[in-house]
Amino acid sequence: MSDAQPLLHWQEQGLERSVRWRSEAGLAPPRRVQLADDTLNADTAYKLACEGTALLWRGDFHNARQLLQALARRAERKPRKAAPVQAPAPDQAFHLHRQAQGQRARVLAMVLVELEGDYGIALRRAPDLRQACSEGWGPADGQPCVASLRELLGLVGAHEWRKKGVEIAALGTAPANRIHAHYGVFSPVRGEYLDLIAKAPLPSTELAFDIGTGTGVIAAVLARRGVRRTVATDQDPRALACARENLQRLGLQDKVEVLQADLFPTGQAPLVVCNPPWLPARPSSPIEHAVYDEDSRMLRGFLQGLAAHLAPGGEGWLILSDLAEHLGLRAPGELAALIAGAGLKVLGRSDIRPRHPKASDPGDPLAAARTRERTSLWRLAAA
Ligand SMILES: C[S@@+](CC[C@H](N)C(=O)[O-])C[C@H]1O[C@@H](n2cnc3c(N)ncnc32)[C@H](O)[C@@H]1O
Repeated sequence: MSDAQPLLHWQEQGLERSVRWRSEAGLAPPRRVQLADDTLNADTAYKLACEGTALLWRGDFHNARQLLQALARRAERKPRKAAPVQAPAPDQAFHLHRQAQGQRARVLAMVLVELEGDYGIALRRAPDLRQACSEGWGPADGQPCVASLRELLGLVGAHEWRKKGVEIAALGTAPANRIHAHYGVFSPVRGEYLDLIAKAPLPSTELAFDIGTGTGVIAAVLARRGVRRTVATDQDPRALACARENLQRLGLQDKVEVLQADLFPTGQAPLVVCNPPWLPARPSSPIEHAVYDEDSRMLRGFLQGLAAHLAPGGEGWLILSDLAEHLGLRAPGELAALIAGAGLKVLGRSDIRPRHPKASDPGDPLAAARTRERTSLWRLAAA
C-alpha cells in the first residue's frame, strides 16, 4: 500500500461514502461503483465489470464468491470464432498472455467487499478473515477499507500456504524441512533449483552470501549443508520477516544473518549465491517483483558486483532458467556476454528440468517455451 491511501467513493441510502481503498496490485479505485447483492445475475455482473463498474457487495459472502467464479469462467472463454492466424512469435505470445491476464485481473477485481476497522466483514455467511488480512496487509488500524474480493481470497490462499508450508527435500527429512512463505514472498514451491544447490560442490563452508533471500530457503539449505555463517539479504520487508521466521523455525538463526540491502552486504565471501527473478519483464504489481526483473536489473547488478564481493578463489552461484530465451525475451548469448563483461568466467554448470505440471501442460499458452525450459546453476569466478 502506498502512504497516500486512495479513497473509494460511492452513494448509499442517500449518503456520500468514502472509504480507504486497498489494492496490492496498485489498481486505482474504480470511479463507478454500484451496490450489488444476491439478486444480481452473473451475465449482468460480467457486463458491468467489463465496462468498469465496480460491484460493492451487500449480499451473502458465499454468493459473492460464487459470482466471482462465474465471472472467472466468462473471462476465460475463448473468442467464439478464432480466425486462422499465424501463431505469434514467442515474445509476442508472452506479451499477449500477460495482457490477457491483466485484463482478466481488472475485470475480476470489480467485485468489492467492505471491511471494518478490525478487518471484520459484516456480510451474511462471511468467514473470519482477520488473521489472513493482518498477515498480508499488516495489523488492522481501526479504519474501514474496501478491497476486491479476489484480493481477499488471495490473502486467504496465502494464509493457508503459510500455515501449511512447502516441503523442501534439500533441507533433509520431515518435519524440519518445511518453508513457510508469507504473502507476497517468492515461494519455493517449484523447488527443483534447490536440488542444484544441494548438490553443487561447496568451495568453502566458512561464509556465504545469499542475495535476494526471499523465504530464506537458499540460506537454510547452505546452513544444513554445513556452511557455518551465511549473510542473507533482501530489499523487501516482507521477505526479511519471512526469512527470519523460517530460519528461526528451522533452528538456523545463529548460522544465518538476515539483512536489508540492495543486493550485496559489505565485504567478501568465498561463496555468493543468487536466484534472481527469471524473466526480464516489467512487474505489473509489487508482488510480481519476485517473478519479473525489469531490464534484468537484479541479474546485471549481481553479475557486475560479484567479482568485487568474492574472496580470492571464491565462487558465485547464479540460478537462472533459460525460459526467457525460449520466450525471445533474452537473446541467445546475452547471458554469456553479461558474464564475460562483468569480468567473470564460467567454472561449470549443472542443469535440471522443471517438474511442475505447467511445464508439460499443452493447454498453457506458453507451452512451446516451457517444454524446453531448463534451470541452471552457473558456477562463476573472477576471470
Ligand atoms: C526469485 S526471488 C528468490 C528468492 C529466494 N532466494 C529463492 O530462491 O526462493 C528473488 C528475491 O530477490 C529479492 N530482490 C529483488 N531485488 C533485490 C535487490 N536489489 N536486492 C536484494 N534483494 C532483491 C526479491 O525481493 C525476492 O525475494
